[in-house]
Amino acid sequence: MHSHRIAPSILSADFARLGDEVKNVIAAGADLIHFDVMDNHYVPNLTIGPLVCEAIKPYATVPIDVHLMVKPVDRIAPDFAKAGASIITFHPEASEHVDRTLGLIRDHGCQAGLVFNPATPLDYLDYVLDKVDMVLLMSVNPGFGGQSFIPAMLDKARACRARLDAYKERTGRHIHLEIDGGVKVENIGEIAAAGVDTFVAGSAIFGHPDYKVIIDQMREEIAK
Ligand code: DX5
Ligand code: ZN
Repeated sequence: MHSHRIAPSILSADFARLGDEVKNVIAAGADLIHFDVMDNHYVPNLTIGPLVCEAIKPYATVPIDVHLMVKPVDRIAPDFAKAGASIITFHPEASEHVDRTLGLIRDHGCQAGLVFNPATPLDYLDYVLDKVDMVLLMSVNPGFGGQSFIPAMLDKARACRARLDAYKERTGRHIHLEIDGGVKVENIGEIAAAGVDTFVAGSAIFGHPDYKVIIDQMREEIAK
Protein backbone atom coordinates (compact mmCIF):
# COMPACT_ATOMS: atom_id res chain seq x y z
CA MET A 1 0.00 0.00 0.00
CA HIS A 2 1.37 3.43 -0.99
CA SER A 3 1.44 6.33 1.52
CA HIS A 4 -0.70 8.24 -0.99
CA ARG A 5 -3.59 6.14 -2.21
CA ILE A 6 -5.34 6.35 -5.59
CA ALA A 7 -9.00 5.34 -5.43
CA PRO A 8 -10.58 5.08 -8.89
CA SER A 9 -14.34 5.74 -8.78
CA ILE A 10 -16.12 3.02 -10.71
CA LEU A 11 -18.97 5.47 -11.29
CA SER A 12 -17.14 6.31 -14.54
CA ALA A 13 -16.36 2.67 -15.42
CA ASP A 14 -18.21 0.61 -18.04
CA PHE A 15 -21.00 -0.94 -15.95
CA ALA A 16 -21.58 -3.64 -18.57
CA ARG A 17 -18.06 -4.95 -17.88
CA LEU A 18 -17.68 -3.98 -14.23
CA GLY A 19 -15.72 -7.04 -13.04
CA ASP A 20 -13.10 -6.60 -15.77
CA GLU A 21 -12.94 -2.85 -15.15
CA VAL A 22 -12.22 -3.45 -11.46
CA LYS A 23 -9.59 -6.09 -12.27
CA ASN A 24 -7.90 -3.88 -14.88
CA VAL A 25 -7.78 -0.74 -12.78
CA ILE A 26 -6.26 -2.71 -9.89
CA ALA A 27 -3.65 -4.19 -12.26
CA ALA A 28 -2.93 -0.58 -13.29
CA GLY A 29 -2.11 0.35 -9.69
CA ALA A 30 -5.32 1.31 -7.87
CA ASP A 31 -4.96 1.20 -4.06
CA LEU A 32 -8.71 1.22 -3.34
CA ILE A 33 -11.91 0.82 -5.36
CA HIS A 34 -14.19 3.81 -4.72
CA PHE A 35 -17.85 2.73 -4.84
CA ASP A 36 -20.43 5.52 -5.14
CA VAL A 37 -23.89 4.75 -3.78
CA MET A 38 -26.63 7.26 -4.73
CA ASP A 39 -30.30 6.97 -3.84
CA ASN A 40 -32.17 9.65 -5.87
CA HIS A 41 -33.21 11.15 -2.52
CA TYR A 42 -30.15 12.46 -0.71
CA VAL A 43 -28.54 13.14 -4.11
CA PRO A 44 -30.24 13.52 -7.50
CA ASN A 45 -28.92 10.33 -9.09
CA LEU A 46 -29.33 6.58 -8.67
CA THR A 47 -26.47 4.09 -8.86
CA ILE A 48 -25.53 0.79 -7.29
CA GLY A 49 -26.15 -1.08 -4.06
CA PRO A 50 -24.94 -4.00 -1.94
CA LEU A 51 -25.70 -6.62 -4.61
CA VAL A 52 -23.24 -4.98 -6.99
CA CYS A 53 -20.69 -4.61 -4.21
CA GLU A 54 -20.96 -8.33 -3.56
CA ALA A 55 -20.67 -9.06 -7.28
CA ILE A 56 -17.41 -7.15 -7.72
CA LYS A 57 -15.90 -8.41 -4.47
CA PRO A 58 -14.18 -11.44 -6.10
CA TYR A 59 -12.41 -9.04 -8.51
CA ALA A 60 -11.49 -6.51 -5.83
CA THR A 61 -8.12 -7.59 -4.47
CA VAL A 62 -7.79 -4.14 -2.84
CA PRO A 63 -10.18 -2.65 -0.25
CA ILE A 64 -13.60 -1.42 -1.43
CA ASP A 65 -14.21 2.17 -0.29
CA VAL A 66 -17.99 2.65 -0.15
CA HIS A 67 -19.20 6.27 -0.34
CA LEU A 68 -22.82 6.37 0.80
CA MET A 69 -24.84 9.25 -0.63
CA VAL A 70 -28.06 7.92 0.86
CA LYS A 71 -30.58 8.90 3.51
CA PRO A 72 -31.24 7.23 5.89
CA VAL A 73 -27.84 5.58 6.42
CA ASP A 74 -28.24 3.05 9.25
CA ARG A 75 -30.61 0.69 7.48
CA ILE A 76 -28.30 0.07 4.52
CA ALA A 77 -24.74 0.51 5.90
CA PRO A 78 -24.50 -3.01 7.45
CA ASP A 79 -25.52 -4.54 4.11
CA PHE A 80 -22.37 -3.09 2.54
CA ALA A 81 -20.23 -4.52 5.32
CA LYS A 82 -21.74 -7.95 4.58
CA ALA A 83 -21.19 -7.36 0.84
CA GLY A 84 -17.43 -6.95 1.34
CA ALA A 85 -16.80 -3.25 1.93
CA SER A 86 -13.65 -2.36 3.90
CA ILE A 87 -14.37 1.35 4.38
CA ILE A 88 -17.80 2.97 4.61
CA THR A 89 -18.24 6.75 4.60
CA PHE A 90 -21.47 8.72 4.93
CA HIS A 91 -22.65 12.33 4.94
CA PRO A 92 -23.40 13.52 8.51
CA GLU A 93 -26.43 15.51 7.29
CA ALA A 94 -27.96 12.19 6.17
CA SER A 95 -27.75 10.57 9.61
CA GLU A 96 -29.90 11.47 12.61
CA HIS A 97 -27.24 10.15 15.01
CA VAL A 98 -23.76 10.55 13.59
CA ASP A 99 -21.92 8.98 16.53
CA ARG A 100 -24.23 5.96 16.47
CA THR A 101 -23.77 5.45 12.72
CA LEU A 102 -19.97 5.59 13.04
CA GLY A 103 -20.16 2.96 15.79
CA LEU A 104 -22.53 0.83 13.74
CA ILE A 105 -20.13 0.73 10.77
CA ARG A 106 -17.16 -0.15 12.99
CA ASP A 107 -19.18 -2.80 14.83
CA HIS A 108 -19.62 -4.46 11.45
CA GLY A 109 -15.85 -4.68 11.02
CA CYS A 110 -15.35 -1.77 8.61
CA GLN A 111 -13.42 1.46 8.85
CA ALA A 112 -15.78 4.43 9.18
CA GLY A 113 -15.65 7.93 7.77
CA LEU A 114 -17.53 11.19 7.45
CA VAL A 115 -18.05 12.99 4.14
CA PHE A 116 -18.24 16.78 3.99
CA ASN A 117 -20.07 18.53 1.15
CA PRO A 118 -18.32 21.67 -0.15
CA ALA A 119 -20.40 24.02 2.06
CA THR A 120 -20.48 21.79 5.16
CA PRO A 121 -18.20 23.01 7.95
CA LEU A 122 -15.84 20.53 9.62
CA ASP A 123 -17.54 20.97 13.01
CA TYR A 124 -19.12 17.53 12.83
CA LEU A 125 -15.66 16.15 13.61
CA ASP A 126 -15.46 17.86 16.99
CA TYR A 127 -16.63 15.08 19.28
CA VAL A 128 -16.35 11.95 17.15
CA LEU A 129 -12.75 11.74 15.92
CA ASP A 130 -12.09 8.67 18.06
CA LYS A 131 -14.56 6.78 15.87
CA VAL A 132 -13.38 8.20 12.52
CA ASP A 133 -10.84 6.36 10.33
CA MET A 134 -11.10 8.64 7.30
CA VAL A 135 -12.44 12.08 6.43
CA LEU A 136 -13.72 12.55 2.88
CA LEU A 137 -13.92 16.08 1.52
CA MET A 138 -16.18 16.57 -1.48
CA SER A 139 -14.52 18.88 -3.99
CA VAL A 140 -17.69 18.91 -6.12
CA ASN A 141 -21.35 18.75 -5.12
CA PRO A 142 -22.22 15.05 -4.84
CA GLY A 143 -24.29 13.28 -7.46
CA PHE A 144 -22.33 13.13 -10.68
CA GLY A 145 -18.91 12.35 -12.09
CA GLY A 146 -17.07 14.67 -14.45
CA GLN A 147 -17.56 17.97 -12.56
CA SER A 148 -14.86 20.61 -11.97
CA PHE A 149 -12.81 20.77 -8.77
CA ILE A 150 -13.92 23.64 -6.48
CA PRO A 151 -10.68 25.54 -5.69
CA ALA A 152 -11.83 26.67 -2.21
CA MET A 153 -11.56 23.03 -1.13
CA LEU A 154 -7.75 23.37 -1.00
CA ASP A 155 -8.05 25.65 2.04
CA LYS A 156 -10.56 23.26 3.57
CA ALA A 157 -8.14 20.36 3.04
CA ARG A 158 -5.33 22.27 4.75
CA ALA A 159 -7.60 23.11 7.71
CA CYS A 160 -8.73 19.51 7.98
CA ARG A 161 -5.18 18.13 7.77
CA ALA A 162 -4.16 20.49 10.59
CA ARG A 163 -6.99 19.14 12.75
CA LEU A 164 -6.08 15.55 11.98
CA ASP A 165 -2.38 16.20 12.65
CA ALA A 166 -3.22 17.76 16.02
CA TYR A 167 -5.30 14.67 16.82
CA LYS A 168 -2.41 12.41 15.81
CA GLU A 169 -0.06 14.32 18.04
CA ARG A 170 -2.43 13.75 20.96
CA THR A 171 -3.34 10.12 20.30
CA GLY A 172 -0.78 8.66 17.89
CA ARG A 173 -3.60 7.59 15.56
CA HIS A 174 -3.49 8.52 11.86
CA ILE A 175 -6.79 9.45 10.21
CA HIS A 176 -6.83 9.39 6.41
CA LEU A 177 -7.89 12.46 4.42
CA GLU A 178 -9.57 11.69 1.11
CA ILE A 179 -10.82 14.05 -1.59
CA ASP A 180 -13.49 13.35 -4.18
CA GLY A 181 -14.45 15.26 -7.30
CA GLY A 182 -12.62 16.78 -10.25
CA VAL A 183 -9.23 15.26 -9.36
CA LYS A 184 -6.91 15.16 -12.38
CA VAL A 185 -3.20 14.99 -13.23
CA GLU A 186 -3.23 18.80 -13.51
CA ASN A 187 -4.37 19.43 -9.90
CA ILE A 188 -3.42 16.32 -7.91
CA GLY A 189 0.00 17.76 -6.96
CA GLU A 190 -1.42 20.80 -5.21
CA ILE A 191 -4.14 18.71 -3.59
CA ALA A 192 -1.46 16.42 -2.15
CA ALA A 193 0.50 19.46 -0.96
CA ALA A 194 -2.65 20.53 0.95
CA GLY A 195 -2.39 17.35 3.02
CA VAL A 196 -4.70 14.92 1.21
CA ASP A 197 -3.47 11.30 1.19
CA THR A 198 -6.29 9.47 -0.63
CA PHE A 199 -7.47 10.60 -4.08
CA VAL A 200 -10.72 9.58 -5.71
CA ALA A 201 -10.70 9.97 -9.49
CA GLY A 202 -13.46 8.76 -11.77
CA SER A 203 -13.58 10.38 -15.19
CA ALA A 204 -9.84 11.17 -15.21
CA ILE A 205 -8.92 7.48 -14.90
CA PHE A 206 -11.77 5.66 -16.67
CA GLY A 207 -11.85 8.28 -19.43
CA HIS A 208 -8.20 7.57 -20.25
CA PRO A 209 -7.36 4.81 -22.73
CA ASP A 210 -4.57 3.42 -20.50
CA TYR A 211 -5.32 3.23 -16.77
CA LYS A 212 -1.70 2.50 -15.83
CA VAL A 213 -0.38 5.49 -17.75
CA ILE A 214 -2.79 7.90 -16.04
CA ILE A 215 -2.31 6.44 -12.54
CA ASP A 216 1.48 6.58 -12.97
CA GLN A 217 1.21 10.22 -14.07
CA MET A 218 -0.86 10.98 -10.97
CA ARG A 219 1.76 9.36 -8.73
CA GLU A 220 4.53 11.36 -10.39
CA GLU A 221 2.67 14.60 -9.69
CA ILE A 222 2.10 13.60 -6.06
CA ALA A 223 5.80 12.81 -5.62
CA LYS A 224 6.99 16.18 -7.05
C1 DX5 B 1 -19.59 12.29 -7.04
C2 DX5 B 1 -18.89 11.02 -6.64
C3 DX5 B 1 -17.50 10.90 -7.15
C4 DX5 B 1 -17.36 10.89 -8.64
C5 DX5 B 1 -16.05 11.55 -8.95
O1 DX5 B 1 -20.73 12.46 -6.26
O2 DX5 B 1 -18.82 10.92 -5.22
O3 DX5 B 1 -16.84 9.78 -6.57
O4 DX5 B 1 -17.37 9.62 -9.23
O5 DX5 B 1 -15.94 11.66 -10.32
P1 DX5 B 1 -14.87 12.60 -11.01
O6 DX5 B 1 -13.52 12.12 -10.62
O7 DX5 B 1 -15.16 12.39 -12.48
O8 DX5 B 1 -15.13 14.01 -10.56
ZN1 ZN C 1 -17.52 9.35 -4.27
